[in-house]
Amino acid sequence: MIPILRTVADLRAIVRGWKAQGQTVGVVPTMGALHDGHLSLVQAAKAGCDRVIVTIFVNPKQFNNPSDLAKYPRTEEADAALLAPLQVDTVFSPNPDEVYPKGFATTVSVAGVAAPLEGSLRQGHFDGVATVVTKLFGMTRADRAYFGQKDWQQLQVVRRMVADLNLPVEIIGCETFRETDGLAMSSRNVRLTASARQIAPALHAGMRAASAALRAGAPQEVALTQAEATIRAAGFEDVEYLTFRDADTLDTSTDLSRPLRLLAAAWIGGVRLIDNIAV
Ligand code: PAJ
Repeated sequence: MIPILRTVADLRAIVRGWKAQGQTVGVVPTMGALHDGHLSLVQAAKAGCDRVIVTIFVNPKQFNNPSDLAKYPRTEEADAALLAPLQVDTVFSPNPDEVYPKGFATTVSVAGVAAPLEGSLRQGHFDGVATVVTKLFGMTRADRAYFGQKDWQQLQVVRRMVADLNLPVEIIGCETFRETDGLAMSSRNVRLTASARQIAPALHAGMRAASAALRAGAPQEVALTQAEATIRAAGFEDVEYLTFRDADTLDTSTDLSRPLRLLAAAWIGGVRLIDNIAV
């Protein structure tokens, strides 16, 4: 079984030993409820580093909605069983008090890229992410950290923060892992009813259609309106955003000469799904 560490002191002791031997350390930060998307990050870390730490911490500071935090699936035993065959070196799963002890008073706040989309819809979300990710880098002293493109804006926020703060860690962004019908894997997918699960791939399909339409020369309003109508007609109750953005800055853009990203958030059966694709 993989050792599960609960304290920063225990984690530091083990990492100190690895570093003394000149070994490279990779970290895969997660909130648990692991699925194949997370495991693909772990595989990338295994391939790129001598030692791999998976962190499992449901970070209260990044939830703007207390019921979302309460409902977040916690499946530590199943997570450990999934990680065992991948030969992860250690799992770090601290309690909230260990991460945010009494008197904790620091927030890492990224402007610009963290402001639109998820940043404006989920107040404080990216402050919570940036703060915990900075702490996890300090705790693990990782040389490389693996993040999914599934959370595109989060990945760009982390990249910005690492560059701005000169954090000595290399950020690796890994492809979004999808079900065969195109639905991006997510810990929230388990909340979908059977009928919502059938409808859910319409989001990715609609996004691909919008991207193809823009590439084929359609004006962005036409491409987006049509895709939104298809997604709603499939059964989504709301499309919070569906927008073409500059892939790095997340500014609105339809400049096809630069890397572009189509990002979306939509509600199906009371579950909020997010997705994004390269245009
Ligand atoms: P969580 O949602 O558990 O995701 C952990 C990592 O897995 C993130 O980098 C996310 O982008 C990646 N991931 C999720 N689904 C994926 C998929 N289908 N394909 C590829 N990668 C996928 O994101 C967080 O946790 C938290 O915000 C965290 C970074 C751990 C900070 O608390």
